[in-house]
Amino acid sequence: MALNCGSFAERLDSVKQASNSGGLLRDILLKPMDRVQAFEFDGAAARGGLIDPFGRAISYLRVSVTDRCDFRCVYCMAENMSFLPKAEILTLEELDRLCSAFIARGVRKLRLTGGEPLVRRGIMMLFNLLSRHLHSGGLDELTLTTNGSQLEKYARDLRAAGIRRINVSLDTLDAEKFRAITRWGSLDRVLAGIDAALAAGLKIKINAVALKDVNDDEFPSLIEWAHGRGMDLTLIEVMPLGEIGEGRLDQYLPLSLVRARLCEHYRLKDIDDRTGGPARYVRVAETGGRLGFITPLTHNFCESCNRVRVTCTGTLYMCLGQEDAADLRKPLRASEANDLLYAAIDEAIGRKPKGHDFIIDRRHRRPAVARHMSVTGG
Ligand SMILES: C[S@@+](CC[C@H](N)C(=O)[O-])C[C@H]1O[C@@H](n2cnc3c(N)ncnc32)[C@H](O)[C@@H]1O
Ligand code: SF4
Repeated sequence: MALNCGSFAERLDSVKQASNSGGLLRDILLKPMDRVQAFEFDGAAARGGLIDPFGRAISYLRVSVTDRCDFRCVYCMAENMSFLPKAEILTLEELDRLCSAFIARGVRKLRLTGGEPLVRRGIMMLFNLLSRHLHSGGLDELTLTTNGSQLEKYARDLRAAGIRRINVSLDTLDAEKFRAITRWGSLDRVLAGIDAALAAGLKIKINAVALKDVNDDEFPSLIEWAHGRGMDLTLIEVMPLGEIGEGRLDQYLPLSLVRARLCEHYRLKDIDDRTGGPARYVRVAETGGRLGFITPLTHNFCESCNRVRVTCTGTLYMCLGQEDAADLRKPLRASEANDLLYAAIDEAIGRKPKGHDFIIDRRHRRPAVARHMSVTGG
């Protein structure tokens, strides 16, 4: 396919065709100078990067591309969830424009999440569109967090679109437990997806939520399994997000306890692989692999926060653990130019709070934040 340097609409058409036909995006990407000029043209460069009131530069955007999911994990959703009407959801083209606006303002890392990002119809078109920013140098990394159910189908296309590393959520290697945790998921399908992703050359980080009396006996086997396949493993504390129909206190397992127990079997050496994110990493001497701990409750990670989140309706959350939000859909749809959008983003970043207030104890039975993780995107 010939290099297409025409209008945005023409490029979009090319990407749509390439996504449908499985064509190579490399052939239709924008020339780097095109993008630089486009950013300057719409005033983004003149506005500069996004710095919050505490001096933190916002370089990481997570976008929930859908609130829907083919699983119903017990800590994430109630079994009978009601989802947003389609009209409220940004189109793939709008999501591309929104992400591109953040990239123009200094975002260097973009993660698509959900809900389950790979169940959104036509999702490869969005990956393919966004990959032009990797080629132009506007973006360092384009990635996703997935439950793995559709990975077998998409692994090769993701790799072809420039994705190099992905996060796959997997809390157990026991098929029955897996079904009990996810309610609707199949372990075999996820494992086949992981195999396909590794075969396609994607690096994988496994995320496992630590659940009291559910998977706490499995961490050694998860470590051996993940590290044996060259994958990192990160353990996550349950966060109090959204009503889920059962008590958080019953699920909550402090990772400080998990780490102390692991130290009885393994030598864990602290390493300073900070990503600006909440994970703290150790090297497991016996396996040589990396193990991360995300501990929002036992250790607050906010001081180095470099990220914001946008939902599939275009709502910008400056903090995962706070209710304050800004509507970006309105300015996005109000005008084809990005001025209103940039102004709304600037105003919102100016309100980014210092940190969250998560607490899980017997006096706090209600969620700290009413929306589910599947809305904001994990
Ligand atoms: C909301 S999911 C979205 C992406 C995809 N569906 C998946 O499961 O990877 C992102 C991550 O959030 C985690 N998660 C969901 N609800 C959570 C909660 N209440 N506390 C901690 N982690 C949670 C999931 O385990 C998953 O790793
Ligand atoms: S954690 Fe991910 S896979 Fe599980 S229900 Fe939530 S969005 Fe779906």
